[in-house]
Amino acid sequence: MGDPLLTFAINVARDAGGILVDKLGRALQVSNKGAIDLVTEAVLASEKLIIERIRSHYPRHSILAEESGASENSSGNTTSEWKWIIDPLDGTTNYAHGYPCFCVSIGLERAGKLELGVVYDPLRNEMFAAERGQGATLNERRIRVSAVAELNQAMLCTGFPYNVRERPDFARDFSNFTMKAQAVRRDGSAALDLAYVACGRFDGFWEDGLNPWDLAAGVLLIEEAGGKVSDFAGAPLDIYSPRVLATNGLVHQSMIAVIRG
Ligand code: IPD
Ligand code: CA
Repeated sequence: MGDPLLTFAINVARDAGGILVDKLGRALQVSNKGAIDLVTEAVLASEKLIIERIRSHYPRHSILAEESGASENSSGNTTSEWKWIIDPLDGTTNYAHGYPCFCVSIGLERAGKLELGVVYDPLRNEMFAAERGQGATLNERRIRVSAVAELNQAMLCTGFPYNVRERPDFARDFSNFTMKAQAVRRDGSAALDLAYVACGRFDGFWEDGLNPWDLAAGVLLIEEAGGKVSDFAGAPLDIYSPRVLATNGLVHQSMIAVIRG
């Protein structure tokens, strides 16, 4: 994988992750209310670094970022075929509590197709990276999805969306998967959850309520690691719609059957 765009994304994610770790230490030293303010400060600083780097290296590219939303490129054109999709801190609630599970996620689309993705966990120094057609890696070593084919041997993961009370199916699905899988986890960082499916730590992941910045990089990681992503009915995934089923491919149909009820 030698694409300079990928090298660029890896370097930016590493530097943004460094900001998060630096500010995490300080956030933990202060009281709850102060810590929340420092979390906001950390998110904004991480996003600022990423956006400034993109603007200086690729001024014609568009950007979609969690905090600042869609932004124009420097020529005022929002319709560039290249679009960076950024989550400067995925796992914000974890971060606010010092729970060590959060990451930086950076994806790049060209004409609506994901071309590269990077998910970086700065506490474990784990850099997940993928480039379309070139496979996926963890710290430069090739990764693949797991070979688990039976749901009762599968370790699954999900996320609880912020508006969980408006998504009542969530509790039913969670309960059904808990009864049928070997284990279900909820780690609180969707981008990292997807990266863990890509490298075989999880066999499947589902969530209703995600945004493109949670998904872009992780989805490409899974596809390039031999896995499968879809909506809850098995139709091709649109990262701009909220329901995602992401698996090693082998447990995909069984998971659709559970969600169908
Ligand atoms: C959230 C996390 C969480 C998922 C939520 C996301 P944030 O992103 O990815 O795991 O369950 O749906 O909104 O707010 O921490 O960037
Ligand atoms: Ca997020």
